[in-house]
Amino acid sequence: MDKKIIFSGVQPSGNITLGNYLGAIKNWVDLQKDYSCRYAIMDMHSITVRQDPAQLRKRTLDLLKLYIACGIDPEENLLFIQSQAPAHAQLAWVLNCYTYMGELSRMTQYKDKCAQHADNINAGLFTYPVLMAADILLYQADLVPVGKDQMQHIEITRDIAGRFNALYGDVFKIPEGFLPKAGAKVMSLTEPTKKMSKSDENPKAYISILDDFNVIAKKIKSAVTDSEGVVEYREGDETKAGINNLLTIMAAVTGRAVEDIAADYAGKGYGAFKADVAEAVVEHIRPIREKYDSLSGNKDYLVSIYTKGAEKACAISERTLQKVYKKVGFVL
Ligand code: TYM
Repeated sequence: MDKKIIFSGVQPSGNITLGNYLGAIKNWVDLQKDYSCRYAIMDMHSITVRQDPAQLRKRTLDLLKLYIACGIDPEENLLFIQSQAPAHAQLAWVLNCYTYMGELSRMTQYKDKCAQHADNINAGLFTYPVLMAADILLYQADLVPVGKDQMQHIEITRDIAGRFNALYGDVFKIPEGFLPKAGAKVMSLTEPTKKMSKSDENPKAYISILDDFNVIAKKIKSAVTDSEGVVEYREGDETKAGINNLLTIMAAVTGRAVEDIAADYAGKGYGAFKADVAEAVVEHIRPIREKYDSLSGNKDYLVSIYTKGAEKACAISERTLQKVYKKVGFVL
């Protein structure tokens, strides 16, 4: 039987954080044996905020390297760069005509980005979820593994697909979002009621997968917690947001339950706990970094991966696009 299809991606718009890894990429690695997976680097999404062109090009290739270093097998999965498959932009245009201003203006990420980039509220920022819907629907994905912050975009994708199908028949598969058991929303280390974000101005707020190990340890050891001194997971209790976050991170990298981890620290202070979280995170990242560094001198290999990836992505996405063009009445 054919395997079910996964589509997902990360924007190359900054340092890839522990949040991106635990919320998305780690899950992709775990899912790759059971699904046919398509993982892209979403460079077209990232220009909705200003990027330095040389940096963007570098980060795109670094992200490809990181996907592979995290354990995604490029032989078994389709890895490609979004802008190299033109059907994404083409389908996004069509879907724009089947998406309402009202539903786009309700998107929380749009509202947050408008607040962050008040000097550049461009139309791309507004229609961003339509491009994301096109990404997913072109590949007829069954499942989209993402962090919690992207679930609203999956919902709108489902709405757009359902609306299009209601008019033209079964053109698109209706995809489901998929969250990891632990790490669906990793919080900032300095303001633990806020999401950990790669665009945070304060580098102490996030852990980059490419940070030095001693920097990672330092950031975890100085993470904001509380003055209670009790390592306990209390869902929804804002005063415990820092400890909840560190417990969740530890759970995600060790595969253990938060309650079991907390039990190990009964009667111990935060110092011992933070030191162990730091060690667990560093040990988890160490093999990823070794693989990443080993790929660094291997540009030809990366070029061959994304070139092959683009060819295959174009073939698959063009098929769906042609179906859509036919349905809406374009001459083929
Ligand atoms: P992006 O690049 O912001 O984030 C990539 C992935 O990381 C997850 N994530 C987190 N998970 C847990 N805790 C956090 N603090 C955290 N921060 C980020 C995100 O949920 C995401 O899964 N719009 C997408 C990129 C995209 C895409 C797609 C994803 C474009 N087209 C199609 C899936 C399918 C984005 O901005 O992700």
